[in-house]
Amino acid sequence: MSDTVFLREVASTNDYLKGQIGLRPFDSVAALRQTGGKGSKGRSFCSPYGGLYLSVYLEPDKDLLPLVTPMAAVAVRRAVRSVLSVDLGIKWVNDLVKPTLGGYKKVCGILTEGITDDKCRVIVGMGINVFRSVDGYGGYDEIVGWLRDGAVDESVLRTLSKVILTEISRCMDGADFMTEYAQESVLVGKVVRYVGGDLDGDYYVKEIDARGRMVLEVNNNAVVIDDGEVVLWQK
Ligand code: BTN
Repeated sequence: MSDTVFLREVASTNDYLKGQIGLRPFDSVAALRQTGGKGSKGRSFCSPYGGLYLSVYLEPDKDLLPLVTPMAAVAVRRAVRSVLSVDLGIKWVNDLVKPTLGGYKKVCGILTEGITDDKCRVIVGMGINVFRSVDGYGGYDEIVGWLRDGAVDESVLRTLSKVILTEISRCMDGADFMTEYAQESVLVGKVVRYVGGDLDGDYYVKEIDARGRMVLEVNNNAVVIDDGEVVLWQK
């Protein structure tokens, strides 16, 4: 595994990696701040100093491809637990959340992007709010959390980055991650607001299945969902 390139600032680590020629699996880049961080569904991702913004290039085989985002979520969860001693929950499909008194705060988002038509070459980008941002979170302060108070310690960000990549590598070598992805879901057993087209509404979540899909109870039927998202933060 080559060393992670660490940048002080970049528009987007995903885009930076995409722009590199001759990428090899596990090439990676991290930044201390992003000026044009990208979120899922075309949104922006607020990326102030204090967070870890990490992208890695992977070539998963076809079976693993749909599970790359869950795999990264579990890798981040394991790394945060070992480096920072914080236990995070997983919010289907690409978020990690920290339990708070009133619910949960998002502390990590993951964006997986294919870079060729066959989609077997992917860049997985992870944005983790490690140290509290003194500048806030771009108007999302109500729903966003962080993992540590106090001054930013860049060595912690470097260690975290290394451990995340090691955990991803373990998963790619065959270590189980789907059990943890399902077990640590904060949605299972709850009624949540699902936003995703025809089915928009409040539903009970029966399970996260072995393929990382969410199974909702809709009019006494199990409906398997692999698109859309869940809003946890609104009542
Ligand atoms: C989301 O929560 O919607 C996904 C956020 C993904 C953010 C990460 S930060 C590193 C990488 N670079 C980006 O521009 N986005 C991802």
